[in-house]
Amino acid sequence: MSFDFAPLLRPGLPPAAAKWAGFPQYNFIGGNNDAESVPVDGLIAAVTAVLKREGSTLATYGLASGPLGYRPLREFLLAKLRRDAGISCSSDEILITSGSLQAIDLVNGILLAPGDTVLIEQETYQGALTRLARLGVTAVGIPLDREGLRLDALTAALDDLKARNIRPKYVYTIPTVQNPTGTIMGEQRRRELLALAEIHAVPIFEDDCYADLIWDGRRPPALHAMNRHGGVIHIGSFSKSIAPALRVGYIVAGQEMIARMLALKIDAGTGALEQMALAEFCAAHFTEHVPRLTRGLRAKLETLMAALAEQFGTAAEFDEPPGGIFLWIKLPEAVDTQKLTLAALAAGVAINPGPEWSTNKAYAKSRMRLCFASPSAEEIRRGVATLAEVCRREFGVPARIANVLQRGGAQPG
Ligand SMILES: Cc1ncc(COP(=O)(O)O)c(C=O)c1O
Repeated sequence: MSFDFAPLLRPGLPPAAAKWAGFPQYNFIGGNNDAESVPVDGLIAAVTAVLKREGSTLATYGLASGPLGYRPLREFLLAKLRRDAGISCSSDEILITSGSLQAIDLVNGILLAPGDTVLIEQETYQGALTRLARLGVTAVGIPLDREGLRLDALTAALDDLKARNIRPKYVYTIPTVQNPTGTIMGEQRRRELLALAEIHAVPIFEDDCYADLIWDGRRPPALHAMNRHGGVIHIGSFSKSIAPALRVGYIVAGQEMIARMLALKIDAGTGALEQMALAEFCAAHFTEHVPRLTRGLRAKLETLMAALAEQFGTAAEFDEPPGGIFLWIKLPEAVDTQKLTLAALAAGVAINPGPEWSTNKAYAKSRMRLCFASPSAEEIRRGVATLAEVCRREFGVPARIANVLQRGGAQPG
């Protein structure tokens, strides 16, 4: 017996989610992390200790901390954000969320209506782009350079909107290890961005979820820390520094905005056990865990860059990122990475095609994003070799694989 729900479904729903078919053999997609670096023993000890001490507080929604999230976790964040990002706020200005995706939804939820306009980095997080599209919001893409958001282009876009009487709702930026390009915006550009935003009375939506993953551990202060007009909403996550499946992120904003977002947070609290385990683990071990994690990530990046050089030669162009989990790669113009994605998947290699990570589909046509955190070193080498074979078969490039001229491939130029 199957009941037909189809005529009852609300109009305007997104397409149904595809059935999960398991992980591909060589998985370079998504923001997954390095399995070896999940601090499993530390988390076991943390869960045990915190449950023994405070387990009975699970009897109430929000533990004994209220709706903003487990107080010791907010206190850990308070100290961490001050130390690393220069942010000074109170623990009532931090709202714990179910991943930073929920943080994005809550910020969007209080600010955006269909027909609104926002400014966004031209290459950016797909999850941010799909949400804006679903909300009926116009996303104006601002090109990037090696230091992130280009302020000349942002100025031009702000002036253009002003001339058309449109006040953008925010500038969304990932200034510290940008997704997908990996750039870090320097302090001077941050200062200029804040000045520009202030002149135009536009808030900045700062997504800082990769800021812990910088190889040399040095980061500029957060935009939230540097701004004086209070117009920055900052979000972060434990997904990249500890583990994405825990689903714990956070928002830092003024209390009035936090209260507005809390009124929209309809899950009656982010998973308590995850928050308790993170607070207990991070208070004691975060600062030693992160350099261990980044050492492993950096080694994988080296493996990926070496594999690309060997298999694609000069056909794969990229800037070495100073941190993070992604490499953003330009292939020759002949390559359409959306077509490459389908052909590669059939061969067991999953990649993210550039156009899904950009507001400028033509610019991103021959670009792709590879996540190097999740596959093992061996999988990286084999996956890139398979990808090069598929790419040569479909598009004639690279002409040389592992420096051997392939029959039927285009002659090297
Ligand atoms: C820029 C950016 N923001 C937010 C997220 C969402 O992460 P989570 O919900 O796991 O915190 C991601 C995930 O990849 C991301 O890349």
